[in-house]
Amino acid sequence: MNEVKIRYGGDYNPEQWPVEVREEDLRLFDKASIETLTVGVFSWGLLQRDESTYDFAELDDVLHRLRDAGKEVCLATGTGAHPAWLARKYPDVTRVDFEGRKHVYGQRHNACPNSPSFRRFATSYVERLAQRYADLGNVVAWHVGNEYGGACYCENCAAAFRVWLQRRYGTLERLNDAWNTTFWSHTMYAWDDVVPPNALSEHWRGPNHTAFQGITLDYLRFTTDSMIESYLAEKEVLNRTTPGIPVTTNFMGAYRPLDYHRWAPHLDFASWDNYPPDAKSQDKMALAHDLVRGLKGGAPFWLMEQTPSTTASRDVNPVKRPGVMRLWSWQAVAHGADAVLFFQMRQSRGACEKYHGAVIDHSGRDDTRVFSEVSALGAELAALRGEVVGARTPARAALLFDWDSWWAVEISDGPSRLVSYADAARRYYAALHAANVDVDVVPVDAGLDGYDLVVAPVLHVLKGDLPERVERFVADGGTFLTTWLSGRVDEDDNAFLSDVPGPLAGVLGIRVTETDALPAEEVNPVRPVGDWAQAQAPGTAGPWPGNLVFDVVEAQGAEVVAEYTGDFYAGTPAVTRHATGRGQAWYVATNLDADGVEWVVQRTLDDAGIRPPHAWVRGLEAAERVREDARYLFLLNHGEEEVVVAADRAGRSLLDGREVACGQELRLAPRDVVVLRTPTTPDPLSGTASGNSGHTGAVTAAEGE
Ligand code: GLA
Ligand code: ZN
Repeated sequence: MNEVKIRYGGDYNPEQWPVEVREEDLRLFDKASIETLTVGVFSWGLLQRDESTYDFAELDDVLHRLRDAGKEVCLATGTGAHPAWLARKYPDVTRVDFEGRKHVYGQRHNACPNSPSFRRFATSYVERLAQRYADLGNVVAWHVGNEYGGACYCENCAAAFRVWLQRRYGTLERLNDAWNTTFWSHTMYAWDDVVPPNALSEHWRGPNHTAFQGITLDYLRFTTDSMIESYLAEKEVLNRTTPGIPVTTNFMGAYRPLDYHRWAPHLDFASWDNYPPDAKSQDKMALAHDLVRGLKGGAPFWLMEQTPSTTASRDVNPVKRPGVMRLWSWQAVAHGADAVLFFQMRQSRGACEKYHGAVIDHSGRDDTRVFSEVSALGAELAALRGEVVGARTPARAALLFDWDSWWAVEISDGPSRLVSYADAARRYYAALHAANVDVDVVPVDAGLDGYDLVVAPVLHVLKGDLPERVERFVADGGTFLTTWLSGRVDEDDNAFLSDVPGPLAGVLGIRVTETDALPAEEVNPVRPVGDWAQAQAPGTAGPWPGNLVFDVVEAQGAEVVAEYTGDFYAGTPAVTRHATGRGQAWYVATNLDADGVEWVVQRTLDDAGIRPPHAWVRGLEAAERVREDARYLFLLNHGEEEVVVAADRAGRSLLDGREVACGQELRLAPRDVVVLRTPTTPDPLSGTASGNSGHTGAVTAAEGE
């Protein structure tokens, strides 16, 4: 097996091209230092022609060539798209959509997750595949399905939903209570009274408009669980047949339809596909990296896909400018990726991805700009050898991310349909990111103990013992920040019958007496009061516009940091800080603009004593990874201007081999990357490596062999 280093390569679908190019592919892979190939993602239809006829000759050829050339394989189960014959003979395989329309064969990623036929044929195909290649020797991971997503509302799903509800609630009485069915005469007298919530039942105007949030929330949870079951059916076969090979499936970052936190325990390692909507999504990509890393307690993940140049699925598909693919690849590594993989190796000849970027384009040339950049990055990563691999992020800040809150707040009637959970989370994350804080994006049940700062934007749903854990965290000296629309409902989406923000009111030291909502363009400027008006960094000390939602707050022990300046609640608190125990709890009562959020976040960093390297240097991203023998500081210039900073430490600049002294000037041209390695010295007191070891609270899982 190859030396352990950052994996490099990507999706390889040679069945789409004449067999003659396979030798040439290998030459090009070597030229670009590509050693890891994901194979078979959409090969099921080719390799199984009917219920009982399998023909693996084509895949044998591909896999044997790769093995003989010393390449590693991430082998896909290929069930992300099903064969036409399967849909023809077994109509339960295709989905019924939100409008109630039964689908026929077409596209991909669309099998009903509760289809008995799909389960049966997928698992028997996967079993044959796994048996056949169990001893190949170069399969380093299994890639199950592909980008699970969407939802189904068929009869099989309806039946499975009822079983899921029986397991969750046990009795109809508990279900009726959870769903608050005395409203609108909805008492369920039999499990069969329950139907999936869609356009034919509880919904109008689309998936976010539901008469019963509790039912829709449960269906979203159930949909995630159904997909997990479908995935687990294949994983179980793989674990049995090839027990040493770790199993993953490629996620899509912060993807609303599926709760990846429910899924995480079933991954041997996490992986995701990075296709940002535009070239200004550095914070969005970073958030997704941190979220994916958080799925397995901070263990390194794989960047399973990114395009080397352009996508094809958007209305307009710009190419990545020179240097951007390299920069974003390093960003992934900086945030914890131990693999940098592309979609795809060779550009499709036909169908909807024929213009999608690839390492090798239709011309087959190795002198294109894209191929040259891919080879250059390959050489750079290969030169690192074992560096960075396995290193973890020493985050002292956590951002709580919660799919239940995401769903609940966006399917809610009132106070505002304009609220986007993802936008709110991103705004707070973006401020932390601009301050170059290493952040763990974690679920609400993650341990908080190792952190100094916990940020929880729009923590709408409060589940389990989170309120008590937040209280303890603050009592023990932590800094907690949450916002408007937090602490409103329980796990069933029923309001707390108490003051707002429910069980968080005590720790925050406030009471929300009313919640106003206005059209997006109507702002209420917020300005800091008293001594707070002197605190300027990182930007100006306000006023900053707040919009969308405005909690009217009464301080009950909390100090007023900033106030509204307009409307009948002018002069009332808009930002509060409650010093309690050894820590402090912050509340931001309205949707502040980015400058306002940055200002508040800097105050919480002050409280938490977090002083990140090169904070607020515009365009510059700094992120750290740490392992026993070394600390790695990644500096990435995302801006259009040169960035000049003084090194905050001495170290070796790995990409150009220079020794850097502490305080030495570092110049980064636009899109430039510096990786500074500082050896760790054993700490004489503890015997462990010195430096901040970061939190260890959450589940830890090894990447796998
Ligand atoms: C997704 C899929 C790939 C491919 C790419 C194109 O991420 O997993 O199969 O379709 O999109 O961007
Ligand atoms: Zn279904």
